[in-house]
Amino acid sequence: MYLIPKVRVALNRVVLPLLKFPVPETFVGADTALVLCRKIAETHERVLLVTDPSLVSLGLVDGCINALRSQGVTVKVFSEVEPDPSFALIERGLEVMHSFDADALLAIGGGSTIDTAKAMSLSFANKKHPSQLTGLWLYALPRKRGLPLYVVPTTAGTGSEATVVSVLSDVANETKVTIIEPKLAPSSVALDPLLTLGLPAPITAATGMDALTHAVEGFVSTMALAETDKQCLEATRLIALSLPIAYSDGPDILARRDMLVASNLAGLAFTRAGVGYVHAIAHQLGALYHVPHGLANAIVLPYVLDFSLPECEKRLALLGEAAGVRGGGAAFIAWIRSLNESLGIPSKVSALRREDFDKIINHAFAEAHGTYGVPRYMTREDAVVVLEKLLP
Ligand SMILES: NC(=O)c1ccc[n+]([C@@H]2O[C@H](COP(=O)([O-])OP(=O)(O)OC[C@H]3O[C@@H](n4cnc5c(N)ncnc54)[C@H](O)[C@@H]3O)[C@@H](O)[C@H]2O)c1
Ligand SMILES: [Fe+2]
Repeated sequence: MYLIPKVRVALNRVVLPLLKFPVPETFVGADTALVLCRKIAETHERVLLVTDPSLVSLGLVDGCINALRSQGVTVKVFSEVEPDPSFALIERGLEVMHSFDADALLAIGGGSTIDTAKAMSLSFANKKHPSQLTGLWLYALPRKRGLPLYVVPTTAGTGSEATVVSVLSDVANETKVTIIEPKLAPSSVALDPLLTLGLPAPITAATGMDALTHAVEGFVSTMALAETDKQCLEATRLIALSLPIAYSDGPDILARRDMLVASNLAGLAFTRAGVGYVHAIAHQLGALYHVPHGLANAIVLPYVLDFSLPECEKRLALLGEAAGVRGGGAAFIAWIRSLNESLGIPSKVSALRREDFDKIINHAFAEAHGTYGVPRYMTREDAVVVLEKLLP
């Protein structure tokens, strides 16, 4: 079963460890967003700032705009980013790039903002619609690098500031698609906890569980490497310690910093080791019902792990140890369920409809098979069993 996808994953497993993945220069700590702006001002004159409208109204981008302008940089703001960025949004961003001759991009925001900036940059440099850039670059023609991209993540998170991935919504086909391309990697990043102190508790919970899902799926992936293992274990340890604190006491700066570091480590790991069925299914729940990405992952994670457990019990037990949970892989899954509950995350997807199962499975399998190193392959019947458990 799945001979061609398995051959592709085997090929990825041989080729990917031989490739050098770009790791962005990363500043960590309070006010590093301003350090990053100083760095930008040393080499750039015209910066296009990509962000979303909520962050503008919260004043979260003001510090960087002022810092850049006071150092002589011309800044234009593109603040139309919406959650789950679509091709249409990228097209609007490209129009702005054509009218404002930027020499760098600065993304301040969550994964949606970072992925928008990445796709804009690659699309612009290659004069190609983003839909022509999707898929794993190993199977594509060589492409040109975009403008230097600087990133300040405001959620913790997608880890997108550390990944070679941009996730976009293909609205016409009701699915999400990914561009996986090393040239998407940002140049420099600031993990500045001051920008995440006000992140509302439900978004803290959902985005934190996204980071945990990256660590878990990256760790049980058959494409995992010794280095990604270390990153996943450390991310899991930090999330177990800090996510409950960041959720209940938002302004706790150390918990916020540790969550940014964890999310970044998990991003560095999964950009090489890949993710798995949790993401493949969660992306469809985002595309069809606009379930926020982290929330969808959090809900789906324990069910997919129940399914995968027979093929990755030892790996899950190790993640459990990192989280301070004894009792093996099943105990780790039980711990995830209780963490979800303590973070106010439901165990069902309220919008899910049985009529959509076929569409969800088709798109999830198209995403996962041949790209992700899933530890246990699902038949369609297995996937139906998982989806039934998610029904309200
Ligand atoms: N490229 C990757 O490697 C990667 C990995 C995982 C997920 N993703 C993608 O990232 C997207 C999700 O990103 P996300 O979870 O970061 O959410 P998001 O960027 O969609 O933001 C969610 C909400 O949080 C708000 N917000 C963000 N930061 C805030 C702050 N500091 N204070 C107050 N409000 C704030 C935003 O305004 C928005 O309303 C999805 O499209 C997902 O598929 C990408
Ligand atoms: Fe994710």
